[in-house]
Amino acid sequence: MTKLKTAVLISGRGSNMEALIQACAQPDYPAEIVLVLANVPDAVGIEHAKAAGVPVAVIPHRNYDTRDAFDSAVDARLREAQADLVCLAGFMRILTEPFVRKWQGRLINIHPSLLPSFKGTEVHEQAIDAGVRISGCTVHYVTPELDSGLAIAQAAVPVHADDNAERLAERVLLAEHKLYPLALRLIAEGRVQLYNGRVIYNQVAAPESTMFNPTD
Ligand code: GRF
Repeated sequence: MTKLKTAVLISGRGSNMEALIQACAQPDYPAEIVLVLANVPDAVGIEHAKAAGVPVAVIPHRNYDTRDAFDSAVDARLREAQADLVCLAGFMRILTEPFVRKWQGRLINIHPSLLPSFKGTEVHEQAIDAGVRISGCTVHYVTPELDSGLAIAQAAVPVHADDNAERLAERVLLAEHKLYPLALRLIAEGRVQLYNGRVIYNQVAAPESTMFNPTD
């Protein structure tokens, strides 16, 4: 089986990266991690990636005078690794428009809300302040505008009456760890792709059931 060569970009804890590494360790999984790239030298995820035996590159953004220079260095390293797809996983740098355009359709991100609700940071605070009863997470194509690309896959996660941002974040994160490997599998198997500004699905199942929250 030819596996989709995948790079993962991180800035911190890297738990989504770990979920992707674990998925890729399964013999029948259609993607492989060719590179983990961090822009923060002491990102915790770097050690996990090394322990898993995955190639790691550290490109500190502070070493570059401009965003363009940093993005060019990242681009060069991704090409050197022959990455077909780039997964942002808690990558806390905004990428420049030329970089995003170059990788458009091959650059995806996970965001801990049901986009287009609650973009940016402090997402779970936003969800709790808005009083929504269902939140979730979204894997989406990256476009130059932050958290605005088309959704590939979403998971709905109930907000409990006594939630604070931390508890909600924990519950959403569990869903993220399932959703990201699922989305990567669908892409690697050619069952989802970006075509003419739409996300096209082929042989993808969808549930019939509705989630209610609260229930009686
Ligand atoms: C996740 O909640 C992800 O959705 C968001 O940043 C967080 C990264 O967590 N983009 P981790 O580094 O994957 O543990």
